[in-house]
Amino acid sequence: MAISVENGVFYLETAHTLYQMKVDSFGILNHLWYGAKTDCCMDYLLDYPDVGFAGNLYEAGNRRTYSLNTLPLEYAAGGAGDYRVPAVSVTHADGSSALDLRFREYQIRKGKYGIPGLPAVYADEDEAETLEIILQDALSAVEISLLYGVLPRADVITRAVLVRNNGDSGITINRAHSLCMDIPYGEWEWVHFHGRHVMERQMERASLIHGIQESSSTRGTSSHQQNPAVLLCEKDCTETNGFCMGAVFMYSGGFLTQIERDQLDQVRVVMGLNPDTFAWKLDSGECFYAPEVILSCSEHGMGELSRRFHHVIRHHVCRGEYKLSERPVLINNWEATYFAFDEEKIERIAEQAAELGIDMMVLDDGWFGKRDDDISGLGDWFVNETKLPGGLGGLIGRINGMGMKFGLWFEPEMVSEDSELYREHPDWALRIPGRNPVRGRYQLVLDMSRAEVVEYLYQVMSRILRENHIEYVKWDMNRSICDWYTAELPADRQAEVPHRYVLGLYELLERLTEEFPHVLFEGCSGGGGRFDAGMLYYCPQIWCSDNTDAHDRTLIQYGTSFFYPASTMGSHVSAVPNHQTGRVTTLQTRGTVAMAGSFGYELDLNRLSAEEKAEVACQVKAYKAHQELIHNGLYYRLSNPWEDNMSAWAFVSQEQTKVLVQGVVFRAAANVLRLRLRLAGLKADAVYRSSQDGQTYTGRALMSGGILLPKLKGDDAAFEICLEEKSFANAKVNFAI
Ligand code: GLA
Repeated sequence: MAISVENGVFYLETAHTLYQMKVDSFGILNHLWYGAKTDCCMDYLLDYPDVGFAGNLYEAGNRRTYSLNTLPLEYAAGGAGDYRVPAVSVTHADGSSALDLRFREYQIRKGKYGIPGLPAVYADEDEAETLEIILQDALSAVEISLLYGVLPRADVITRAVLVRNNGDSGITINRAHSLCMDIPYGEWEWVHFHGRHVMERQMERASLIHGIQESSSTRGTSSHQQNPAVLLCEKDCTETNGFCMGAVFMYSGGFLTQIERDQLDQVRVVMGLNPDTFAWKLDSGECFYAPEVILSCSEHGMGELSRRFHHVIRHHVCRGEYKLSERPVLINNWEATYFAFDEEKIERIAEQAAELGIDMMVLDDGWFGKRDDDISGLGDWFVNETKLPGGLGGLIGRINGMGMKFGLWFEPEMVSEDSELYREHPDWALRIPGRNPVRGRYQLVLDMSRAEVVEYLYQVMSRILRENHIEYVKWDMNRSICDWYTAELPADRQAEVPHRYVLGLYELLERLTEEFPHVLFEGCSGGGGRFDAGMLYYCPQIWCSDNTDAHDRTLIQYGTSFFYPASTMGSHVSAVPNHQTGRVTTLQTRGTVAMAGSFGYELDLNRLSAEEKAEVACQVKAYKAHQELIHNGLYYRLSNPWEDNMSAWAFVSQEQTKVLVQGVVFRAAANVLRLRLRLAGLKADAVYRSSQDGQTYTGRALMSGGILLPKLKGDDAAFEICLEEKSFANAKVNFAI
């Protein structure tokens, strides 16, 4: 049993971790532990200090030491004597806002709970167990279900929250976070992933100040600026040593992660819907589900933590036919042509791509409506016959005739003011009556909280997918959202629109992915502006960034790798000088970096020299040979590109018999020793043969002494070394250690 209860203590056990909570004599649910297995109840760590100005529970009488303000709480409510950042807060019908949550009952079920209308980790009946703990407000009939999904083999625990209003009058939920975690001891640092358009998920590690630090989005999407994932680690934690825990919010809209270090140096982490863009009216008898948070922890550093998240995202978040199967190597015309293409240009790119072994031609923005730039056309999902006189069918037929699959770009959630859709339904765009809407990339946002908008998009898109042989959809979303208002809801429910938007988006994605299981959906939002576990439930890969510069991509992919597996990262080779940075890198470097993901090209191959074309053909072949290892292997970060002069990583097969080491050395230097790179994740006693020099090395040597990299020339030079286990008897071992 992964979940057990003894003397009011809940034990949630996975292969290597333990989560504990305890109901105390007042019915308060205390958080006791999340970490390594300890084989005992951890309530001896509870302390009851007498802290000035800490409120005391009324029933505790004159016991000044019993305070919700100092105890580690499993789910902290506002207004009842705990002054730290709350996980939940509501306004009752009488205007008051206290919630005094006491334990009522629990239930343990086989399998993993689901969440209606929202993405959630899924698992077979025998792979997971669910614990539901019901807390109830002492006065009102507000009830909170804490849902825990335990996936023992994956070393993952999920959390979600269900708020029920069993009272006679309505309440407003102002905050209903999915995660609340109190950690009384330790010296902690946090790692978060900030960024901007064309520079997403930049890793930042910082110690905790007293007070609240946070990362968040109010943009209606998870955003380029902050990612809804956070890592908390002990001060001495490295890639391979030390304790750390991570939390990923499985949601694609606004979010808030707050970490408070309190007066006693205790740490509280809360994560969930961003209260700045969320409130929900809950009428009598109604209930509300807060989206899920995925948790994991490791005693052996951030590398192991990342691999646990990679596993759960790949096996229990991503779905569909492409979840584990090989992805097509694709060529996308965006950076090759932007809006300036016609049938002939696309066919020429496809022809060349087919010759070099590429599997799929993706037609990006500009194929529809009046769309010669980004000012018009969004919403008009019918073919632009000036560019494609033979229609989609004609083009697809010819591309299929070349032996290539065909994929198509959409930006379903948007509308241009200069479009037929907008002229017909101006009220479908989000805008506040009497105010001018904010434009982003000239465009407005469709009101996805409205059922008829979702239905319309479903009809238009499903028709195109039904009538044409389309095997891939790039689902783009190119602005941040504001002007939250819908004509469909009364004034006191307008604060629900941002979350209802995301529910509408998920509904559309669910219907389309279910109806078209053979189509590979790739998420995108100006690159990686909506790179989150929510989108990955529908789209097993997401365009990682509009920045295709190989140097910058090593930093972006490094940050992304902390939670998201390589298979989820769309990454392409593009032309040089790079369109975003002007940097020139070799084709080899661009290929090596793009291969550490779901691979493709984004340039006009006809402009390459014969040698370059031959190199592309080799890259495609190499990727196809390595894809299984890259997608299903274990990922090891071998350097920190923010501190070291290189970005290096390795994919190690599950059986530890095959290794692909890749990387880029940033700055060239004259007259220096060859660089040495320590590997990780190998079998210490095994013997591996290196593709670099044909020599054999013990795993122990490779992990302690490392491997010498080839001599490289020029800045941003890439290297790639394959290692394969050889039987000891036949091997010529290098006893260099
Ligand atoms: C976004 C995407 C790009 C491309 C353009 C098209 O920026 O990230 O890849 O599809 O839109 O307008």
